[in-house]
Amino acid sequence: MIVLGIETSCDETGVALYSPERGLLAQGLHSQVAMHERFGGVVPELASRDHIRRVLPLTRHALQDAGLALADIDAIAFTQGPGLAGALLVGAAVATGLAAALQRPLIGIHHLEGHLLSPLLSASPPSFPFVALLVSGGHTQLMRVDGVGRYTLLGDTLDDAAGEAFDKSAKLLGLGYPGGPAIAALAARGRPGACALPRPLLHSGDLEFSFSGLKTAVLTAVRKGLADEQARADLACELQSAIVDVLVAKCLAAVRSTGLTRLVIAGGVSANQRLRDALGQASAKGRLQVYFPEPALCTDNGAMIAFAGALRLAAGSAGTTDVTGFSVRPRWPLHELEAAGC
Ligand code: KG4
Ligand code: ZN
Repeated sequence: MIVLGIETSCDETGVALYSPERGLLAQGLHSQVAMHERFGGVVPELASRDHIRRVLPLTRHALQDAGLALADIDAIAFTQGPGLAGALLVGAAVATGLAAALQRPLIGIHHLEGHLLSPLLSASPPSFPFVALLVSGGHTQLMRVDGVGRYTLLGDTLDDAAGEAFDKSAKLLGLGYPGGPAIAALAARGRPGACALPRPLLHSGDLEFSFSGLKTAVLTAVRKGLADEQARADLACELQSAIVDVLVAKCLAAVRSTGLTRLVIAGGVSANQRLRDALGQASAKGRLQVYFPEPALCTDNGAMIAFAGALRLAAGSAGTTDVTGFSVRPRWPLHELEAAGC
């Protein structure tokens, strides 16, 4: 069985070929960061147009790398949502066209499910059940995961996502987009504790997050004036610490309240080294085991979509063979997703 996965929900065109028997056979990724950088964020119309340019050449290359032909593909998975409507439509149209031409089943994947399951692609994957922190540019959610499609929301952000806090603060500091890696690089030169930012909802006693106040605190500090490069680095360092402190505390609280011992971190912010180190330290103290996706699979990619498609097919989902039309779901809460096989 060979599944082609297509991801076009935002600013990365990702394609991959995954086989449950042979693993990840090939993948291709094109990041639009350089194109959007000068606008300080993603421009949806440009994103859609670029996906159109990239998706077929990337698919051709992936097939070549794997030594396969189009006819070898057994099923096609694509990101159906959530994401930018126009960008999603490109992936949906290409996936549906291929499914119609090849007469293969088509399966629409929830982008966050792709992220959530991506650590299962690693050499030593976690087994179910586990607690998952989905931490990306648009989401900060704690979930209980009992199986493919069996997700219970434990906590969510009341306003900005953690990645958004990184991105918006980076903009205020005059750093590039995406902000997470830029803040992390600047923070490496900062002095821990040299300035103070709040840890929103740290002691709220629940599993909710709130990050918009942090962005406002960064704005206030910038307006007051940052004396020199060292002061900017100190602020970046404190911002990263504040976000990491809150994420780690809430993850540990979720683990305690569920009684589970496995914790999975997924989504773009899971690439953050400071977060990885802090959770590594927390797990060294007790029974907790922490799992991250391979660094290359933290941000958006086609492999996680092909993989999620393969897992859903293996769990009994038939996909669809009705390729007379297609739809995308730019807003699609994860809890509306059906369990696999339904
Ligand atoms: O999962 P993703 O690629 O796209 C969404 O689904 O949103 O996540 C992108 C987010 C951005 O906010 C980006 O700043 C953040 O992940 N990010 C990081 C790092 N790498 C990416 N945040 C902190 N540290 C990083 N190293
Ligand atoms: Zn994502």
